[in-house]
Amino acid sequence: MIPSSLLALLAILLQRSAAQDAPILGDTTQSVAIVFSPPFLPPDIPPQTYPNYTLPPVQPSWQPPTDPYNYTLFVFPTTGSTPASANNTSPQALRAVSGAVELASNATDSSLVLRDPYEGWRRQWLVGGLNASTNYTAFAVEDRNQSITGPIYLLTKNASFPCTLVHSLPYCPFVSYAVPIPPPSQTDPAQLDTSLTQQTYTADDLPGEYTAILLSSLGNFSITLSSFACGRDVYSPLKTCEECFDAYRDWACAISFPRCANTDILAAPPAPLPSPALMPRTNMSRNTFPPLDQTYTELLPCIETCTMVDRSCPYFLQFGCPLPGVTAEFSYGVGFIDDAEHGRQDAGVPGAAEEYGYAWCNSGSSYDY
Ligand SMILES: *[C@@H]1O[C@H](CO)[C@@H](O)[C@H](O)[C@H]1NC(C)=O
Ligand SMILES: *[C@@H]1O[C@H](CO)[C@@H](O)[C@H](O)[C@H]1NC(C)=O
Ligand SMILES: *[C@@H]1O[C@H](CO)[C@@H](O)[C@H](O)[C@H]1NC(C)=O
Ligand SMILES: *[C@@H]1O[C@H](CO)[C@@H](O)[C@H](O)[C@H]1NC(C)=O
Ligand SMILES: *[C@@H]1O[C@H](CO)[C@@H](O)[C@H](O)[C@H]1NC(C)=O
Ligand SMILES: *[C@@H]1O[C@H](CO)[C@@H](O)[C@H](O)[C@H]1NC(C)=O
Ligand SMILES: *[C@@H]1O[C@H](CO)[C@@H](O)[C@H](O)[C@H]1NC(C)=O
Ligand SMILES: *[C@@H]1O[C@H](CO)[C@@H](O)[C@H](O)[C@H]1NC(C)=O
Ligand SMILES: *[C@@H]1O[C@H](CO)[C@@H](O)[C@H](O)[C@H]1NC(C)=O
Ligand SMILES: *[C@@H]1O[C@H](CO)[C@@H](O)[C@H](O)[C@H]1NC(C)=O
Repeated sequence: MIPSSLLALLAILLQRSAAQDAPILGDTTQSVAIVFSPPFLPPDIPPQTYPNYTLPPVQPSWQPPTDPYNYTLFVFPTTGSTPASANNTSPQALRAVSGAVELASNATDSSLVLRDPYEGWRRQWLVGGLNASTNYTAFAVEDRNQSITGPIYLLTKNASFPCTLVHSLPYCPFVSYAVPIPPPSQTDPAQLDTSLTQQTYTADDLPGEYTAILLSSLGNFSITLSSFACGRDVYSPLKTCEECFDAYRDWACAISFPRCANTDILAAPPAPLPSPALMPRTNMSRNTFPPLDQTYTELLPCIETCTMVDRSCPYFLQFGCPLPGVTAEFSYGVGFIDDAEHGRQDAGVPGAAEEYGYAWCNSGSSYDY
């Protein structure tokens, strides 16, 4: 006999794997969401060889493709009559959905971003003017062949959500979520409604106090790792120095930029799904972040952000992660991606995925996509 709760969970997991090339969600606040198109045109990454092995720079600068794919994004409040599959809808039908927001590739506050070079470029949109505590549906349509991907679901935060979206950081490609920082001070209130970029932080206006230690750590790690004969001496049959550095970057970014959770009842995943890894935070900050003058709840980083460094890096770096069941649960989400009990990779439940508007831990990497 298989318990019905397990069947329900299986159904959810199977459903999830169907939406491979869907758009993805960065995060939301009470009125703004960050949404990405499916990926396209991965850049050529020359293989690194000894003795000219070069680690990725701390601040990579990639040249966007000259002829990118163009996508149009549709976002609307989820209701009973919202299309539930890309198969039984059309661009015309999406355009006609009540309350639909339509954003083309040339929309204001849209840009090309490279979250994961192996995956490819994505169009990023900041979607504004959303209502608080609302479940929205999003689809993306490729302009040339009109193929539809999605749906994904996004839940906006409630009106008293204290955090601000941070995105488009070349040194932290997976940071595109709400961080406990007060919003940027506005110099021109008249522009507040027109530019969402002004209501969020990018690398251009994020104060240096939030990034100084991170950038210094990345630089130091790169120097230390370079003392290894990368590409000549093999420390793992599976991993390279480049992957070690990328894993360290993802971990350092997830630790440096705590992610604010949605604590509303609406955001609690229904049974049989597990509860997310939440930790209430007050002024006491666990890192060097200037304290937010408010309490907030953190969505803890997935433990895999740490174990991936451990697995990907040479032993001499002595990188260690806290042990599940001992101390890990205080600072990380455990068991959502890997099975913590038996250490099996990718056997955790339900994953960090956010396609239905829920998040279990901050993956800060490409694992959940
Ligand atoms: C390494 O780079 C140097 C200088 O750019 C070049 O002369 C040399 O041929 C390169 N070696 C290899 C093995 O690619
Ligand atoms: C994207 O749009 C631009 C401008 O309209 C156009 O020049 C380009 O060919 C389009 N690219 C694709 C792949 O459709
Ligand atoms: C949509 O259609 C494709 C191809 O016909 C099929 O593989 C897929 O399972 C369908 N998806 C849904 C949700 O019906
Ligand atoms: C965006 O592109 C569409 C055609 O793809 C065009 O009709 C529209 O005027 C453009 N909008 C802006 C703001 O450039
Ligand atoms: C927000 O809610 C109002 C009132 O219910 C509705 O008219 C409006 O279309 C909604 N806006 C969005 C973007 O969902
Ligand atoms: C439509 O275009 C996208 C991006 O160019 C591609 O990934 C997809 O496979 C195409 N779909 C069809 C049905 O041709
Ligand atoms: C990086 O190394 C420099 C020089 O050793 C040191 O002063 C600095 O504190 C290190 N940065 C961090 C974040 O540990
Ligand atoms: C709204 O969100 C805040 C912060 O996330 C939380 O403390 C509060 O309980 C929420 N209020 C409601 C009514 O859910
Ligand atoms: C946080 O600390 C500041 C000063 O350090 C204080 O004014 C504020 O009341 C504190 N907030 C909370 C929620 O404890
Ligand atoms: C949003 O709506 C979809 C479709 O009804 C549902 O599957 C999903 O669980 C909802 N998400 C949240 C966070 O309520």
